[in-house]
Amino acid sequence: MSGAADWLAPRGSAASLAPSPYAGLDLLSTAVVLIGADARVAFANQSAEQLFEVSRRILNGQLVARLFTDAAAIERLLEAARANDLGQRRQVLELRRPLKEPLPVYATASALYDEATPLVLELNEIGQQLKVTRDEHYLDLSEASRHLLRNLAHEIKNPLGGIRGAAQLLESELPSREQREYTRVIIGEVDRLQSLVDRLLAPHRGPRVVAEFNIHEVTERVRALILAEFPRGLDIVRDYDASVPDVRGDREQLIQALLNIVRNAAQALRDRIAAGDATIVLMTRVARHVTVARRRHRLALELHVIDNGPGIPAELQPHVFYPLVSGREGGSGLGLTLAQTYVQQNDGMIEFDSKPGRTDFRILLPLP
Ligand SMILES: Nc1ncnc2c1ncn2[C@@H]1O[C@H](COP(=O)(O)OP(=O)(O)OP(=O)(O)O)[C@@H](O)[C@H]1O
Ligand SMILES: [Mg+2]
Repeated sequence: MSGAADWLAPRGSAASLAPSPYAGLDLLSTAVVLIGADARVAFANQSAEQLFEVSRRILNGQLVARLFTDAAAIERLLEAARANDLGQRRQVLELRRPLKEPLPVYATASALYDEATPLVLELNEIGQQLKVTRDEHYLDLSEASRHLLRNLAHEIKNPLGGIRGAAQLLESELPSREQREYTRVIIGEVDRLQSLVDRLLAPHRGPRVVAEFNIHEVTERVRALILAEFPRGLDIVRDYDASVPDVRGDREQLIQALLNIVRNAAQALRDRIAAGDATIVLMTRVARHVTVARRRHRLALELHVIDNGPGIPAELQPHVFYPLVSGREGGSGLGLTLAQTYVQQNDGMIEFDSKPGRTDFRILLPLP
């Protein structure tokens, strides 16, 4: 690491204008901090800026012990690195952030065997790491299942018209009412299948209309529709952050996605609606530095739908986004599959937490 001295040069000198030997580290999604022999930050990459939530102009040159709650732990790592006795160590550390509570991170400390910068720290947010693996799971799942479903739906759809037509012809030939009951059953079931495959194929039909709009137009619309459907015993509380910037996407798709989620919540609240204390909260917030659908975004919208219903049964939770999975009498199990597909088509994703008394579905959408 011969160029480390460039970074230690005073700001504004010719040396600091030279291209950084560490510029490549800015491409990583892991936060990387190089620590100089003087126990100060020699270089912090862009992900580190995001993690600490301060610019690297401020990070560079900081005493590294001041960045973590456990200063002694950092001193020990640095001491071991200077003495060529570190190799690589992993431990949990807590970041100190201005005006915020400390943030626990997984830190991997490695010796660089370089006198000027003996130590490098790689930092991963603990919660974030769990979330990324979960995201990936959802993405892969719906990618594969969408493909399968689309083909299957087409296969089912093609003969349905023929079956219905034949049943109608047969009906007109049949002499007795009892016999015509059978053809009624055929036609009724064909119509049910038809609407199922139509719903399955809907997200892949027709052009998407992408525009910028205020997310609260969407939440207000869905609120009105659900209140019309459930006129008594259900309270839909708005908890909006009015400063949320406009989102960019297909408005109708997002209305449909949110409608499916809020309708599920209202349906799950049946007993509380009867008791008169059913509540759904629609909450909007801006989140910073989040990974949505495998991409890191500086700003994202979080749209929560929180209900005080019984929760999703634990055994159903890993599968709710699968098509045809339903825990509801008469449910077709497509609502969440479609919602996830629509949100993903707008570069976002849906996730949830659920326990008895509180289910929180979140639509995450990157903000421009
Ligand atoms: N807020 C919630 N509270 C409790 N259970 C829920 C909630 N949201 C979803 N579920 C469970 O997840 C299942 C799957 O939901 P999904 O919307 O995909 O299908 P559905 O509602 O059964 O049928 P469809 O929406 O196609 O009419 C539901 O049947 C229900 O058991
Ligand atoms: Mg549903």
